[in-house]
Amino acid sequence: MESNRTHLFALQARLNMMSLSLLIGALSLCVAQEEGYSEETSWIEASSTNLLQFGQALRDSQPECGHLTVEACDPRANAFCSNNCRIHTHGADCYRPVPDVMAEHPGEDGYCYFNATAFWVSYSGPNPHFEKEAAEGVLFLRGPSYKGLNTGPLLAYSFEDAVNLTTYADSAHYLYDDLYAYSLGFLQGQGLDPKWMKNSSKWISISREKCDEIQAKFAFEKEELVLADWLDFNMVISAMTMCSAGMNISYMDADILRAAGWKSPTDCKPVTSRDFAKHHY
Ligand SMILES: *[C@@H]1O[C@H](CO)[C@@H](O)[C@H](O)[C@H]1NC(C)=O
Ligand SMILES: *[C@@H]1O[C@H](CO)[C@@H](O)[C@H](O)[C@H]1NC(C)=O
Ligand SMILES: *[C@@H]1O[C@H](CO)[C@@H](O)[C@H](O)[C@H]1NC(C)=O
Ligand SMILES: *[C@@H]1O[C@H](CO)[C@@H](O)[C@H](O)[C@H]1NC(C)=O
Repeated sequence: MESNRTHLFALQARLNMMSLSLLIGALSLCVAQEEGYSEETSWIEASSTNLLQFGQALRDSQPECGHLTVEACDPRANAFCSNNCRIHTHGADCYRPVPDVMAEHPGEDGYCYFNATAFWVSYSGPNPHFEKEAAEGVLFLRGPSYKGLNTGPLLAYSFEDAVNLTTYADSAHYLYDDLYAYSLGFLQGQGLDPKWMKNSSKWISISREKCDEIQAKFAFEKEELVLADWLDFNMVISAMTMCSAGMNISYMDADILRAAGWKSPTDCKPVTSRDFAKHHY
């Protein structure tokens, strides 16, 4: 049971990795060891002995990562496994601005510190393998309903000044993640080369640059940079994205609909690029 649950957590942790593929962390080391690497990533394998040893040395001298005090998702969250702050070793810090918290922990990885606060916030080591992670994320998220490229329903979004912005929702999460990735400029063809993922330090520095660009553009105030709010906002973004796609989501949780400003398909608040930018952490 325990190992099934842990495995499930690791899988769930990867759920958001397609859309969040620039993020550091979220690699399950035990899965990586079980499955090995493809030939394309063999250069990583070749260098991984050193990196792993370095990682081990780092880890030994690093403080323990944050973790849950009860090994289960908090059912009080507004969606499945989306906010475990109340049962987390660093839970109180979820409710303070992240820059303040991290300033008190110089050199620590925020994904380690806040590990497991939601299923998509998961740290499993200092030596990420982004390409493998992204591929697994794509396949996992795709789910059994996926029938192939451009086989899903065609959706049209009302999104800021975009004209005739459409996508085929080949998989349920495309509804959210296609617009999210488009908004951030992270879709295929928007300038990022997937080959760069092979070099994790390069990918991490690109991620850092993108975060700086986002902050330069949106100038988030410290009060907006509170982890618990971000976590609770995920379902709200989802609802606003469905508003942008003109969908009838009256079945959704009433509190989520209220937070998203959703009254009907024609009286609702579309998602904005600022909302999406705030979700990129
Ligand atoms: C992250 O938290 C989970 C849930 O509590 C825990 O099982 C796991 O060991 C933690 N990871 C690390 C690297 O401490
Ligand atoms: C909008 O985009 C869809 C999908 O690419 C296309 O089939 C349709 O012709 C476009 N409509 C207009 C008005 O450009
Ligand atoms: C990986 O990227 C870093 C930073 O961009 C660069 O200095 C390094 O040479 C790259 N390593 C490989 C193996 O390409
Ligand atoms: C939305 O769905 C609900 C529940 O199925 C239904 O009662 C309502 O009439 C629908 N609204 C519109 C505008 O289609």
